[in-house]
Amino acid sequence: MQATMDQLKRQAAARALESVRDGMKLGLGTGSTAQHFVELLGERVAAGLDVVGVPTSEATRADAARCGIPLTTLDDIDRLDLTVDGADEIDPALNVIKGGGGALLREKIVAAASDRMIVIADDSKWVEVLGRFPLPIEVIPFGLSATQRAIGRAFAECGVSGQMVVRKGRDGHVFVTDGGHWIVDAHLGQIADPPRLAGLLNPIPGVVEHGLFIGLASTAMLAGTRGIRVIERP
Ligand code: A5P
Repeated sequence: MQATMDQLKRQAAARALESVRDGMKLGLGTGSTAQHFVELLGERVAAGLDVVGVPTSEATRADAARCGIPLTTLDDIDRLDLTVDGADEIDPALNVIKGGGGALLREKIVAAASDRMIVIADDSKWVEVLGRFPLPIEVIPFGLSATQRAIGRAFAECGVSGQMVVRKGRDGHVFVTDGGHWIVDAHLGQIADPPRLAGLLNPIPGVVEHGLFIGLASTAMLAGTRGIRVIERP
C-alpha cells in the first residue's frame, strides 16, 4: 500500500532522529513534519535520551512540553548542535523557503544559532527553482504600504514580480505571528537567484525577516514512495 503524505513526513522525521545523540542541544522546528520529529523525540526522551530543545514557535513549545522534552532558550545556552525543521520548498543548493506556518522569524534565529540544520520533508517539497510556493515576508504593520513598495523595488531589481497578499488566518482576520508581526505572501512563481533576493530584502526597513533560508540547511532528508533521499549541501 502506498504511504500517505503524513507517513512520508513521519519517515523523514524518523530518519533525522538517527542524527540525534545523547547530550545534544536541539532546535525544534514548526509545522506538521517537525511535529512528527517532536513526537518521536519525545518517545526517545521517555526512554532515557538526554537532550534539551529550543522550540521555534509557541505551538512547538506546547507540543514539546506535552511530549516531555526538556526546554531551554537561546538566552540560557550559547549554540545548538542541531536544528531539525520542515520546509515549504527546497532547491538543489539547499536554499529553502520556509514560513508557510508563520514561524519563519524564530525558525531562522534558531537555525542560525545551530551548528547543523536538517530539513525534513516529503519529496513534493523538492523543486528545481524556488518560488512556486509564495514567499512569506514578515513585516511590521506600521507603514505597510511603504514597506510593500520597497519590497516591490527589490523584486524588480532581482527580476521577479508577483502579487503580494497580506496573510489572513482561518478566522478571516489578519494572521499575527508569535512576534506580533504580519506576513506578506509574495506570489513570485520563480526565484532565479534566491541569495540575491534575500540580500535585497534584508535591509528594507519594516521587513522583519523573510522565508528564504540561504546557507542554513546542511542536509535535506526527503521521504518519497521509493525511500528516503539524503542530500548534503554542495
Ligand atoms: C513554519 O513556519 C514553516 O516554516 C514550516 O516548517 C513549513 O511550512 C513546513 O510545514 P509542513 O511540515 O507542515 O509542511
